[in-house]
Amino acid sequence: MPMIETINLCKEYADVVALNNLNLKIEQGDCFGFIGPNGAGKTTTIKILATLLKPTRGQASIDGLTIGYQNRQIRPRIGYVPDFMGAYEDMVVAEYLEFFAAAYDIHGQARKRVVADVLDLTDLSYKSTAEVNSLSRGMQQRLSVARVLLHDPKVLLMDEPASGLDPRARIEMRELLKELRRMGKTIVISSHILSELAELCNVVGIIERGELVFNGTVREVLSRSGVGHRVTIIVADRIEDAADLLRQAPGVTQVAVEPNPREHSTLQIVVTISDDAVHTIPDLPNRLVNAGFRIARFTEEEVNLETAFMRLTKGLVQ
Ligand SMILES: Nc1ncnc2c1ncn2[C@@H]1O[C@H](COP(=O)(O)OP(=O)(O)OP(=O)(O)O)[C@@H](O)[C@H]1O
Ligand SMILES: [Mg+2]
Repeated sequence: MPMIETINLCKEYADVVALNNLNLKIEQGDCFGFIGPNGAGKTTTIKILATLLKPTRGQASIDGLTIGYQNRQIRPRIGYVPDFMGAYEDMVVAEYLEFFAAAYDIHGQARKRVVADVLDLTDLSYKSTAEVNSLSRGMQQRLSVARVLLHDPKVLLMDEPASGLDPRARIEMRELLKELRRMGKTIVISSHILSELAELCNVVGIIERGELVFNGTVREVLSRSGVGHRVTIIVADRIEDAADLLRQAPGVTQVAVEPNPREHSTLQIVVTISDDAVHTIPDLPNRLVNAGFRIARFTEEEVNLETAFMRLTKGLVQ
């Protein structure tokens, strides 16, 4: 049984169709990246899963419990990080966490311990006596995560936890989320930036105008969108022979020889990842070496997930 499931989930706000028959299946331990442009329906979906918003039609369940019917049992199992944190005047970080721990019925020594634990996990121990309002945005986002970990939920629902963060804070947030994944939590995380989720998530769902346009692994996103990986290889000699050899590798769709009169010529290779070409890129140097070529340079260009995403979302790019 999936940890999270939606069946034909629909949400309409007056005349706006926010979700149109959304079907999701997220397994225990998955980190599901929920990607889509502004207004696609990400927040709506996450709020429904967090039991905060009623669907117009359709069903959703978490850990086998039905949203709308078993919300009381669902709430201890989930932690919801909203897109914006409310303001908490005149509260210091430790008090803020104590306050929410009390709301989860955690008292006495156990409360002190759990507050210390979540501060440690989110690297905020050194800010425990700082006022919440004095924290930077990145620290506030980490505090939001700390808050939803107090009751040790199985499922984390996070609505753009990295938005508005500088590059360093983004990396820290990603490390924190990786740690939570290692702890076995099932995570749903929304973003409109695919590359941010690629490293973290094992599966992604791309939503556009309330409909799921793609659901699968990051590699499947790439292979489905037909975006090629670009590899540059410089061999010391017999460049045309090397080009012919590489053309025979599975998934290699293009091999161009770029002559360079001053140095060695360069081979520009495009590899389209598909199920039978998963290992093509790491195998390319082996093929050359086994055939007696000497490799002077091998570089793989970072894959442009953005392009893949734009191709998969209908109507944006032809
Ligand atoms: N309370 C509301 N009343 C009316 N329409 C709403 C309401 N909340 C959301 N919508 C509409 O529902 C659609 C989906 O919005 P939602 O906030 O779920 O998108 P999102 O994917 O989270 O976008 P973003 O990337 O901007 O956060 C949009 O067309 C939005 O205008
Ligand atoms: Mg949103």
